[in-house]
Amino acid sequence: MELATKLTSQTVQNAVRQVGINANYWYAVGWANQVRSGKITTFVIWQQTIAVYRDDRGDLHALENICPHKGVELHKGKVKGCNLVCAYHGWEFSPQGDCVAIPYLPKENKLPRAKTRYYPIIEKYGLIWIFPGDAALAQESEIPEIPEYDQPEWFMVPVCAKIKAHFTICNENSMDVFHGFLHEKLQGWFDPVLINLQETDNSVCTEYKVSYKGRLAKFLGLSEKADEVTTLPVSTEYRYPNFYSSLQGISVLYLMRLPVNPTETGSVAFFFFKIALPKWILQAIKPLLVFCIQRFILLRFLAQDIEMVESEQQTHLNYPHRRYVEINPAIVAVQRLAIRQYEKYIQGLVDEN
Ligand code: FES
Ligand SMILES: [Fe+2]
Repeated sequence: MELATKLTSQTVQNAVRQVGINANYWYAVGWANQVRSGKITTFVIWQQTIAVYRDDRGDLHALENICPHKGVELHKGKVKGCNLVCAYHGWEFSPQGDCVAIPYLPKENKLPRAKTRYYPIIEKYGLIWIFPGDAALAQESEIPEIPEYDQPEWFMVPVCAKIKAHFTICNENSMDVFHGFLHEKLQGWFDPVLINLQETDNSVCTEYKVSYKGRLAKFLGLSEKADEVTTLPVSTEYRYPNFYSSLQGISVLYLMRLPVNPTETGSVAFFFFKIALPKWILQAIKPLLVFCIQRFILLRFLAQDIEMVESEQQTHLNYPHRRYVEINPAIVAVQRLAIRQYEKYIQGLVDEN
């Protein structure tokens, strides 16, 4: 559905800062190489702690981090074959979460019906993806397509962040091109105009016209000369639960969002650039260039954003009943989407019971 792009005043619904996640999506939780064979680690998706381990064949498995015997955290245990063994009494769990052995139970005795929850888990684009909702729905849900990944013409720079703010506050920061004001000193963008806004059940897509100028814009191929203003269309999309942005074939951003709890959000971003340097030079200086782009460009933008969204969260915690005003219809649409997805998930749980 196409929505009006005119900037008009609207009151923000406070409910948006109270919503939980729709768990029936894949969430990127961390780097796949973080978990080596025989090792167990934990990730948190919206207050659920999940023990992730890699078996001796190299496959990843994810179990709720609670032993159904007495509640000890399973990540304290060890990996045995493709199973996970609890540290306390040695009960052994299969990748599906079933108790398959108890070391002190006589052979003739039946195993108790003890089960811990398992989560669908996939490794893709160097990331671990977990489906924290109804496992039966995992097949229907897709991991985002990242066609630029591993393509030689694209130069990828990854950036991770941990932010002390509700995920909706973070999403609004990513979708709001009007905050170029904040990044003015970093030669960011200016004079954005919202020219198109579309909304579906699980996405909000925008198109803005944005102007660039300066040395940074020239380095990133946005303008021919540093002192010239270039105006380009920028498309941004919040396709629940992740964020994408593309600048006319010049750069692309994929931002995978990980809601940890009501005041903490993680993210992994892949920035893809087309850098105007010969391929052999790019290959030779790749690690150095990745480091420099992270350190001197992306992390500086990110630090400014984090300061703003954490300030917004803090004020919200201090004055929970305060009302705010928004004028960007794209942000209002993003808020509606977060509420709609959460309500849909809750409704699904109610219908199930
Ligand atoms: S608490 Fe896990 S085996 Fe007893
Ligand atoms: Fe920003």
